[in-house]
Amino acid sequence: MTSAKQKIIESLLVQKELYGDELFRKTILTEPDLNVGKDFPNKVEKKISPSLKKIESLSVSNSSFGTDSTEKLTQYYKEICECLECPLGKTRNKFVFGVGDPNAKVMLVGEGPGADEDEQGIPFVGRAGQLLTKILEAISFKREEVYIANIVKCRPPGNRTPNPVEIETCIPYLHKQIEIIQPKLILCLGTTAAVSLLKRKESLGAMRNKVHQVGEIKVVVTYHPAALLRNPNWKKDCWADVQFFRKLYDEM
Ligand code: URA
Repeated sequence: MTSAKQKIIESLLVQKELYGDELFRKTILTEPDLNVGKDFPNKVEKKISPSLKKIESLSVSNSSFGTDSTEKLTQYYKEICECLECPLGKTRNKFVFGVGDPNAKVMLVGEGPGADEDEQGIPFVGRAGQLLTKILEAISFKREEVYIANIVKCRPPGNRTPNPVEIETCIPYLHKQIEIIQPKLILCLGTTAAVSLLKRKESLGAMRNKVHQVGEIKVVVTYHPAALLRNPNWKKDCWADVQFFRKLYDEM
């Protein structure tokens, strides 16, 4: 095989890893509706066939291919995807870099990969991820038009909260992703994401309902979707948070 051909194949494999593959699209776009509860009105009323949804999702992602941040992000992924800087590197199955539009105006930050994410190498693909997709749809964002990443890129065993050393070691990767993507708005999902990104030791309650700032970027805090699955009563507050977030976006 010529080296040019090899390079193209290598690059396509990286793109697949970074921006989702068939399995990802199948899981996210063709699963039966999740019951997200009455607090998240389903904005997508028309039933769109899975194949049409697939085309739609591809066209959004494709709009960013070949751009500067796509290339930078791809290059950065290659640099860090074999990371063994903390003990989580030894126990992970896959390094979970991030997924979505490298030119997104909106970024979502979670805590760290769970079992499904560790298996697929893509953030938020398990039950919490499916709820997150529904929440995004409820405020008229497609999953493909935002960028989703985590504070730590490797799964903490047993889904425990990442410890301070793991967070300190890994968070520069997120900072670099933010620097490349340059979102205008970030939504932190849960206490770990908010405390780590905002460098504040406050409760989630104290951090909600406010516009924080990381450099020029506005940051809003809400519940982690996994917490909503455990405590559906919190969905109402989360709905208020994400509407607030959408309003900020619309006013930009
Ligand atoms: N929870 C997170 O915080 N991140 C994921 O990617 C999945 C579940």
